[in-house]
Amino acid sequence: MAEVVLALDLPGGPEAMRLLDRLPELKWVKVGSILMTREGAPLVRGLIGRGLRVFLDLKWHDIPNTVAGAVTAARELGVSMATVHALGGRTMMEAAAGAGGTDLALVAVTVLTSHDPASYGQATGREAVALVDETVRQAKAAVSAGLAGVVCSAAEVASVRRVLPEETLLVVPGIRREKDTAGDQVRFATPGEAVRAGATHLVVGRPVLQAPDPAAALTQFVEEARCAVS
Ligand code: C5P
Repeated sequence: MAEVVLALDLPGGPEAMRLLDRLPELKWVKVGSILMTREGAPLVRGLIGRGLRVFLDLKWHDIPNTVAGAVTAARELGVSMATVHALGGRTMMEAAAGAGGTDLALVAVTVLTSHDPASYGQATGREAVALVDETVRQAKAAVSAGLAGVVCSAAEVASVRRVLPEETLLVVPGIRREKDTAGDQVRFATPGEAVRAGATHLVVGRPVLQAPDPAAALTQFVEEARCAVS
């Protein structure tokens, strides 16, 4: 069954802890740039101390030595999953994989779910980019460099699944129920669609964070993921 990972995109630690008190069934949280910049390692230790698995989503994209150092720090902190950018290149990803060891799953961010073909083409100086082909290309490079998996949108996950080994982790953000608003996500899907396409981890933030009853919303995501068969 796919794991549901809650993106803790909240302004600070107290807000995060108050929310988590209301979500006893939660197993995975994602700490991104917002919360990490405010609260740092003590917050991550606090989350791990609550029995949560932490996905540290800082999307590293730097020279190999710096990324390897960041991965080592994340491993020593006890996080279970972390992200690097596939566009950091093979040497950077190999350095990251070497520093990750066996307890830290490193996944490569491919094409951000906020991109459409035009914005990706503009960002990379190209005319028109087929996002599925680009995602598959980056995903193959990540796994061949030794990473455990990739982050991609639900629109590409089936194509990526077809070309990568079965154990590859496929982490899919941009998850929305039928009734949810997309926000800035352009390539989004329901939990069922993402799981049926082969996602192993679903990342959801605002539809739970902003729900009047976050526990009920989280349960809906978990149930939709559980009922879908990949
Ligand atoms: O609120 P929402 O459900 O859109 O949150 C999605 C989360 O997934 C955010 O924390 C965002 O940073 C992250 N993410 C993403 N697209 C990627 C990689 C990560 O939306 N390609």
